[in-house]
Amino acid sequence: MIELYRLRKEVPSGAETLTILHSLDLSIPDGQFVSIVGPSGSGKSTLLGLIAGLDAPTAGEITIDGEAITTMDEDSLAALRGRKIGIVFQSFHLISSLTAYENVLVPMEIAGLGDAPERARRLLEDVDLTARAHHYPSQLSGGEQQRVSIARAFSNDPSILLADEPTGNLDSKNGRHVFDLMLKLNRQRGTTLILITHDHELAALADRRIALRDGRVVGDSSSSSEGETNETPDTDHANDDGGVAGDELLEAATAATAERQGRR
Ligand SMILES: Nc1ncnc2c1ncn2[C@@H]1O[C@H](COP(=O)(O)OP(=O)(O)O)[C@@H](O)[C@H]1O
Ligand SMILES: [Mg+2]
Repeated sequence: MIELYRLRKEVPSGAETLTILHSLDLSIPDGQFVSIVGPSGSGKSTLLGLIAGLDAPTAGEITIDGEAITTMDEDSLAALRGRKIGIVFQSFHLISSLTAYENVLVPMEIAGLGDAPERARRLLEDVDLTARAHHYPSQLSGGEQQRVSIARAFSNDPSILLADEPTGNLDSKNGRHVFDLMLKLNRQRGTTLILITHDHELAALADRRIALRDGRVVGDSSSSSEGETNETPDTDHANDDGGVAGDELLEAATAATAERQGRR
């Protein structure tokens, strides 16, 4: 469970103070798939960085499984991230001098995870990149690079996956593939998935959709009191009728997994 209590983030801006997040209260249960939408500059990345413990709030508290991360020192935070959190960024963040396999392997070796070579091989298989394992990032397409970064994010078997516009640099077909993979891992492993996206169709497939605007929650599909009536979509293709598509997606993901298991 991730809990945010009166979370606030301010930054100095010249002589003034800019408030990026205004006193946010949120509670995200284990295994939930939450999408976060909102216009550029609404505070989405800031929020994700705070949950990841990569940034410190000005006020308020975040607890992960009851542990207050906002009062932890850097070493404890790094240890917590290593145990529980995987992160995927829009721009992949792969190391260009390492192959796909090494990009997945090396962090596991640094973390001292046993059986790292075999785990790295299996993770690359999970993202359908076995044939590309020994290619360097520059030899891979954007979609393939993002799949490597997903394999890497899952190397510590995280209970929480944070993804900041992971499909933002991909065309719709590759974006969908990357999204399907994250959804599959969320369903199979019960991973809590917090996904920032500009794609309202993908966002609508989540268990819960949170809309931010100017650093405030202006819509939360799981909360009847807030509703989404005061939310204006920031793109013209907002389509919240994701129920059927969601089922189809899950079926497709399950079928793909069964097929792969059958091939073993
Ligand atoms: N370290 C910082 N210093 C000053 N302004 C910042 C800093 N980080 C973010 N901001 C500002 O805070 C706002 C929210 O940023 P961000 O969380 O990146 O939004 P989003 O991810 O929704 O596009 C933006 O106006 C951005 O310019
Ligand atoms: Mg952002």
